[in-house]
Amino acid sequence: MSAVRPSLRRDPGYTGLTTPVESLPAAWYFDPAHYQRELTRIWYRNWVYLCRSSEIGTPRSYATLELGDQSLFVVRGEDGSARAFHNTCRHRGAALCRAARGRFPPAGIVCPYHAWRYNLRGELVQTSSAQVGDGFEMRDFPLYGLPLTEWNGFIFVALTPEPPPFAASFDLPLNRLDSWNLSQTVVGHRLHKILQCNWKVFWENYNECLHCPGVHPQLSQLVPIYGRALLERRDDPRWQDHGADENARYAGGLRAGAESWTMDGQPVGVLFSGLSAEDRKAGHLYMTSVPSVFIVAHVDYVRVVRLLPLGPERTDMSIEFLFRPETLADPARDITRAVEFTNIVMSEDAAVCELNQRGLHARAHRAGVLMPEEYVIRQFHDWVRAELARP
Ligand code: FES
Ligand SMILES: [Fe+2]
Repeated sequence: MSAVRPSLRRDPGYTGLTTPVESLPAAWYFDPAHYQRELTRIWYRNWVYLCRSSEIGTPRSYATLELGDQSLFVVRGEDGSARAFHNTCRHRGAALCRAARGRFPPAGIVCPYHAWRYNLRGELVQTSSAQVGDGFEMRDFPLYGLPLTEWNGFIFVALTPEPPPFAASFDLPLNRLDSWNLSQTVVGHRLHKILQCNWKVFWENYNECLHCPGVHPQLSQLVPIYGRALLERRDDPRWQDHGADENARYAGGLRAGAESWTMDGQPVGVLFSGLSAEDRKAGHLYMTSVPSVFIVAHVDYVRVVRLLPLGPERTDMSIEFLFRPETLADPARDITRAVEFTNIVMSEDAAVCELNQRGLHARAHRAGVLMPEEYVIRQFHDWVRAELARP
């Protein structure tokens, strides 16, 4: 193919790369020491999506997060506020939560080891010693608090006292999803999968559609521009040939007649009512917060895909499907046509991510090369490098 060179023409505004760009070093995808560096510099210093607010809907209910060698929990206070703490007792460091999800007793947070007791604000309210040492003050031993942001029914936490501004972790303004009224949505289905790949392999796959025509036959029909291996109109170096063409093949969005990401393109849920005509036409809106989550909003449901690293070559992926409550209350509505479609696309991506991981170990392979369509991967790599270098 490359022997036949079309005359070089790149229209103004073309988004793709114009020179080959070296990929990240191959060892960064499996070397345990580098993995630890990424945990410390990226995962422990950025906002990470933990769970939906509804998972700790009632006071005293908690949810934990295991991330690298760190364990933390979030708990709903009697005042309705959620707070995050290291899952560590101030006495001698025992873990406080026995389960991944649960509810503390009315007495509060009681350490399973020597029964130190904390209130839901993390203040130590009782020790178990007959008398305390001279100068011991309970106020000096609160739980180790962590930043928490509750936004649109999502709970994010950070393992550093001073994470970057929450809004800056997203690639779009926080209010971009306002019309979906996400805090009112309900989880209708969950998918979970352990991927045998480094977490960056997943994000690279997410950030390009060069693989779409070969890997995603159904998705390429539903989103015709993906079938051209492009994400957006200007990813085509000759985009001006069809610059005003509203056909989805050139403009992006769903094929004519389709409205949502489902098996037949028809919505499965009650539509979100406040969407703009453009959002309805596009059929999907992506909003991303690296390193842990992306949200895809459709006209009738919203998909939330969370990643957590489990090791240099293992990644936990969990997907939540959010619907309007009316959708889930209506037995005539069959959400499986949406779940099934996602399952197909996700399984296709998982399979190639795992293939990608397997090949990276070749002793001859030092780094890959990015092609023009992979300009968003380049942005991702720049971000990874910048995070690793950030003091
Ligand atoms: S370690 Fe928690 S009370 Fe001793
Ligand atoms: Fe894909």
